[in-house]
Amino acid sequence: MKPAVLVTKRIYPEAVEYLKEHCTVDDVGNDDGLTPEELRARVRGKQGVVAQLTDRFSAEVIDSLEGVKVIANVAVGFDNLDVPAATRKGILVTNTPDVLTETTADFAFALLLAAARRVVEAHAFVHAGQWRKWAIDLLVGQDVHHRTLGLFGMGRIGQAVARRGRGFSMRILYHDAVRAPEALEDELQLQFVPAEQLLRESDFVSLHVPLLESTRKLIGEPQLVLMKKTAILVNTARGPVVDEAAVAKALSEGWIAGAGLDVFEREPQVNPELLKLTNVVLAPHIASASVDTRREMSMLAARNVVAALEGRRPFTLLNPELWDSLSRRKGA
Ligand code: DGY
Repeated sequence: MKPAVLVTKRIYPEAVEYLKEHCTVDDVGNDDGLTPEELRARVRGKQGVVAQLTDRFSAEVIDSLEGVKVIANVAVGFDNLDVPAATRKGILVTNTPDVLTETTADFAFALLLAAARRVVEAHAFVHAGQWRKWAIDLLVGQDVHHRTLGLFGMGRIGQAVARRGRGFSMRILYHDAVRAPEALEDELQLQFVPAEQLLRESDFVSLHVPLLESTRKLIGEPQLVLMKKTAILVNTARGPVVDEAAVAKALSEGWIAGAGLDVFEREPQVNPELLKLTNVVLAPHIASASVDTRREMSMLAARNVVAALEGRRPFTLLNPELWDSLSRRKGA
């Protein structure tokens, strides 16, 4: 008998087709998302789940699951899933790294450029028929080339953003819990600095850290006051990494010049103060949203589920220690 898999929300059809070749699929097929109660009910009798970042797999939900062998998140971030709880329960968990690195870095840079060069304001200005004459200081913004880019987080996406910064001849500072290997620092000409120095010296501060207790509200009032008045903040990581109310205050009171935000504390809600401002570019969590990348993310999650259910090691496993102990038990 084929194993049963729940797909909690719409994914690319190719991925559903692939799952159907190997499993019996219960495809919710919409973007609404399931409540924890619905999730528990719908997952009953399934061995695999293809989940998305809006599905909350708390320890409580995970503890209540019976017979589930694998949960494949269609995202690189996995703060929606309690991985240690899944490991205790014997559930393999996967995410979708690598396939979205370059696409997400492109979008971080798009927000950076849009905020620096006031692209959205310019678009609105022309659309509103306000463009009547050329003026020397019409919609002047900040230069990007040869400026200082400060990156919090030097993982895959941080590195891809640094590469783009090098293309713009930028000086690159970074801060992370763990320092990058010397070879990488040399290749990208990165300077590892304390967080305060990064905030004080950067013209652009871009966030590429996972959401952890240690990174929650990494950027709040104490950090924003350290930044240059001309600086721009970019967040494509996770909303709770910044204190949204503090960012709105900093933008409206001119502590910083602008921001580009793709992620928010309570998505899809956005702090109403941010909506009143023109010096912030807002996007609905779409940094990885290119056709190819979202398709690849769907396919990788589907391949991970099928691999796990066929007894093969999933490609991008978040709890490899569980796989090792399951394999040892099988071998014993
Ligand atoms: C992720 O993958 O974690 C993004 O936030 C959505 O692509």
